[in-house]
Amino acid sequence: MDLKNLKKEIQKQVEDTQDLKVLNNIYRKYLGKKGEIAKVFSSLGSLPQKERKDVGQDVNSIKNELRKMIDSKLKEIKRESRKSNIQEKKIDVTIPGQKVEQGHLHPLTLVQREIIRIFESMGFEIVEGPELETEWYNFNALNIPEDHPARDIQDTLWLKQEKSKDSKKNLLMRTQTSPVQIRYMEKHNPPFKIIVPGKVFRNERTDASHDSQFYQCEGLMIDKNISVANFKAIIFAFLKEFFEENIDIRFRPGYFPFTEPCFEIDVRRKKGEWLELMGAGMVHPNVLKTVGLNVNEWQGFAFGMGIDRLTMVKYNINDIRLFYSGNLKFLNQF
Ligand code: PHE
Repeated sequence: MDLKNLKKEIQKQVEDTQDLKVLNNIYRKYLGKKGEIAKVFSSLGSLPQKERKDVGQDVNSIKNELRKMIDSKLKEIKRESRKSNIQEKKIDVTIPGQKVEQGHLHPLTLVQREIIRIFESMGFEIVEGPELETEWYNFNALNIPEDHPARDIQDTLWLKQEKSKDSKKNLLMRTQTSPVQIRYMEKHNPPFKIIVPGKVFRNERTDASHDSQFYQCEGLMIDKNISVANFKAIIFAFLKEFFEENIDIRFRPGYFPFTEPCFEIDVRRKKGEWLELMGAGMVHPNVLKTVGLNVNEWQGFAFGMGIDRLTMVKYNINDIRLFYSGNLKFLNQF
């Protein structure tokens, strides 16, 4: 074995690498327990006595040199990797920062808050009720018995359960916020005026102005000597403040089992067509009787407006389904 050549070869391999793994392999191959140098040592025995000592010393010093070389290479590699690490992680404080995108309120939330603000300023209390409702509150207590044709007007999402004869046991997703009228009147004595914003559900096909889920805001005012004139005054005041301009409104006769007389109120859109904003009317005596009020003493009005519809008119949006699309191009405009 030519020791000088071996040394040169190892030296070259060590110099050429910047890789810890390669360096490890070189160490194992030449200086390891079963490495080349160890082999030379074990072959010393076959040499004549005289040479043995010299060669032994040579091999030893080569071994030590190689060790040192590998050692310093190891330090070099570590130093370099630390340096490049620091360079990579260096922060350039002169680079302009990345803008953090901020969320914002949904247009329906904005409008709901605006509705609340206006009615609060007129002394209305804000009330909420459950979205999962019983058949009794959603229909029966509102003067809509089981066989009443008005049930077909609002296609209902029923919960999967066996239908009971007791309407208080049958569950549905409320089709309107009107059941909260009953819930409130059961627990409070008049006079009062409340609004009830909330989500409602209908089992119907969707189009540009109908969705299977939307928001309503119910209103209810009960006092002595309340008439349609009071309703008109309040609703006009609301619409004027909400739209911040004089808009074309029309009252049409409508039909709801829980009001008498009934109105439907439309607004004229930019292109001239009418859009229904709300149903309303004087609370039906049967409803007042159901909650135990004396109909000779108390009366009042109720209304239910579509928050989505109000938003569409206010911002000139032509498809209700955009509200629930999650489309950022649409939402970022608000
Ligand atoms: N609940 C009715 C609907 O959803 C609206 C309404 C509310 C009508 C209150 C009259 C009085 O269509």
